[in-house]
Amino acid sequence: MLVLCLGCRMWLTLIYSCISGAALLYALYRWVIPTAVQYHGGLALIWHDVIVERMLDTLTQSTRPQRLLNAVQKNATRGDPRSVVKAIDDFCRHKEWAMNVGDEKGCILDSVVSEINPAAVLELGTYCGYSTVRIARLLPPHAKLITLEFNPDFAAIARQVIAWAGLEEKVQLVEGASGDWIPKMKEQFGITTFDLVFLDHWKDRYLPDTKLMEECGLLRKGSVLLADNVICPGTPDYLEYIRSSPRYESRYFKSHLEYTKVEDGLEKSVFKG
Ligand SMILES: C[S@@+](CC[C@H](N)C(=O)[O-])C[C@H]1O[C@@H](n2cnc3c(N)ncnc32)[C@H](O)[C@@H]1O
Repeated sequence: MLVLCLGCRMWLTLIYSCISGAALLYALYRWVIPTAVQYHGGLALIWHDVIVERMLDTLTQSTRPQRLLNAVQKNATRGDPRSVVKAIDDFCRHKEWAMNVGDEKGCILDSVVSEINPAAVLELGTYCGYSTVRIARLLPPHAKLITLEFNPDFAAIARQVIAWAGLEEKVQLVEGASGDWIPKMKEQFGITTFDLVFLDHWKDRYLPDTKLMEECGLLRKGSVLLADNVICPGTPDYLEYIRSSPRYESRYFKSHLEYTKVEDGLEKSVFKG
């Protein structure tokens, strides 16, 4: 029978404890916490958008948008927007959550774009260009999508994602804040009115930017506003305004916060003039 000395036994116990601790931490990080936060919006956002993002940024010395772009370049086919959308959804479902509109609400977005068949679209909030690609791939020939993003690092990644999808001709990515650009849309881009506006920037800007678009005459009778995240994180002032105003006919499309099981949805509001 093998008899171990006291020192060897202590070392074995230490190694065993380290391996068990590491396995436990990995299970917590990879499965237990992500599954638990799937059902709670606030916790999901803190976990994915603050804790995990900062930790991976530090460990990999890269940013989430850079990692997302790498996934596109590795897994999507150049010039094929569908494969770009799929590569981002796979990355966000299986590797790292990100604040794209996502696959589930993305299907609602697709159906609204297809129904309207818009010639002029404004997107507020580009991030890495996921929804930009989703929208642009469905636009008819000669249609134009202007997308606004005020973070230059995100804008630089989005340009590469849009180019990988082969959609640069259809998309004009404009760097800067919505409040600064909305009043300049007519003179700078020759826009008369938008057929569709997708609101997906910071939630406290939905209402002031909607009022600004009204003031600047960017909406016509029949223009559609489609707003993301109206439940989670939520846009109560915008919802109250758009649902009570006689100038809009508004409808809620129930869904889930991107890549989770938390309730969220899109609000589609038709401007009546
Ligand atoms: C939720 S993300 C957009 C996601 C993107 N629409 C998608 O589904 O792929 C919101 C983005 O809006 C940008 N943003 C927030 N407020 C803005 C503003 N006032 N003007 C321009 N960009 C803004 C943020 O930097 C962020 O990249």
